[in-house]
Amino acid sequence: MKIAVTGGSGAIGSFVCDELAAAGHEPWSLDRTAPRVDVEFRDVDLTSLAATREAVRGAEQVVHLAAIPDPYLGHSLEQVIGENTVTSYTVFEAARLEGIGRVVYGCSESSTGFGIHHVKLVPQYVPIDEQHPLWPHEAYSLSKHFGERIGANYAEAFGIEVVSLRYMWVWSVRAEDAAREIVARSLDGFVPDPVSGFGAHIAVRDVARAVASSVEYEFPPSDDAPFEAFFLSARDTFLPLPTLELLRRSFGECPAVLDAGYFAANPQASVFDIRKAARLLGWEPKSDWRHFDDWEF
Ligand SMILES: NC(=O)c1ccc[n+]([C@@H]2O[C@H](COP(=O)([O-])OP(=O)(O)OC[C@H]3O[C@@H](n4cnc5c(N)ncnc54)[C@H](O)[C@@H]3O)[C@@H](O)[C@H]2O)c1
Repeated sequence: MKIAVTGGSGAIGSFVCDELAAAGHEPWSLDRTAPRVDVEFRDVDLTSLAATREAVRGAEQVVHLAAIPDPYLGHSLEQVIGENTVTSYTVFEAARLEGIGRVVYGCSESSTGFGIHHVKLVPQYVPIDEQHPLWPHEAYSLSKHFGERIGANYAEAFGIEVVSLRYMWVWSVRAEDAAREIVARSLDGFVPDPVSGFGAHIAVRDVARAVASSVEYEFPPSDDAPFEAFFLSARDTFLPLPTLELLRRSFGECPAVLDAGYFAANPQASVFDIRKAARLLGWEPKSDWRHFDDWEF
C-alpha cells in the first residue's frame, strides 16, 4: 500500500517508515527536515493545505505524526497549539480532497489530561480505558485532542476511516538518556516522590508496530462513522512497586478499581488499559524496561 507519513523524518516517524516498508508497504515521508532512514522524501510545510494536498496525492492511507511533540522544546505555547492543530486540519482535509480512505493519527496519552498537566486530576476509575472522560487543559494536550476530534468528525461527516493512537511517553532517541537513568534507578528499587505520569511509557518500535497494525485494521462494513481510538503503553509501569500502591501514594487513596482482575493478573500493569488494542489491532507491546539494553532508539 502507498502510505504518506507526515513527520516521517522524526524520532517516531523514522521507525514507522521502517516498519511499514518491512511490512511490504511503500511509505514516503512528508516533512520539513530530511529523513533519517532510507525512504522517499517530500519536503513540505504541512501548515499549507495546498502543499499538503500535493504531497499526499497518490497515497491510499496517511499516517499523521508531524507535530511539535513537546510543549517544553523551546516553542511558544501559541506555536504548539497553533501548528499542531493547523497541521491536523490540513492533513485530514487534504486526505478528504484527495479521496484517501484512512488516516492513522499519532495522538498522545496527554490528550486525556493526564501526563502533562497543570492540576492533579484524579481518574474516575482505573485502569483508564478509551471510555474514560478526556480532560486536556494545556496547549500540547489540547492540540493532540483537537487532532483526534478533527479525525472523529471527518469519520462521521465523510466516512474517512480514522485510527487514533494515544500512546504514552515514547522512549525514542530524544528520551534515551532520561530513560536509561530511570531504568537504573528502578532496578535499584528507587521510587520518586511525587510520581508523575504513572510510570507510563512505550518503546518507539512498539509504536511503529502499532501503526503497521492500524493500517491493516478492518472496520466493520456497517460502520458509517469509522473511528477508533486506542491506548498504547508498555505492559508495566517503569516503577518498582505495584500500580495500586503507586495510585495510593499519588492520590492518598486509590481511585475506583473498575476491574480488579486486571491488577491481580499483573500488579505492575500500566494505569492505561491496552486490551482494546490487543483485541482489535492484534497488537501487544514487546519491549520491557527490565531488558532496556535490547531497546532500539
Ligand atoms: N515523543 C513522544 O513521547 C510522543 C508521545 C505521544 C505522542 N507523540 C506524538 O507523536 C508524533 C511524533 O513525535 P516525535 O517524537 O517523533 O516528534 P519529532 O519532533 O521527532 O518528529 C516530528 C516531525 O514532524 C515534522 N514537522 C512538524 N511540523 C511540521 C510541519 N509544519 N511541516 C512539516 N513537517 C513538520 C518535524 O520536522 C519532525 O521531523 C507527534 O505527533 C507527537 O505529538 C509523541
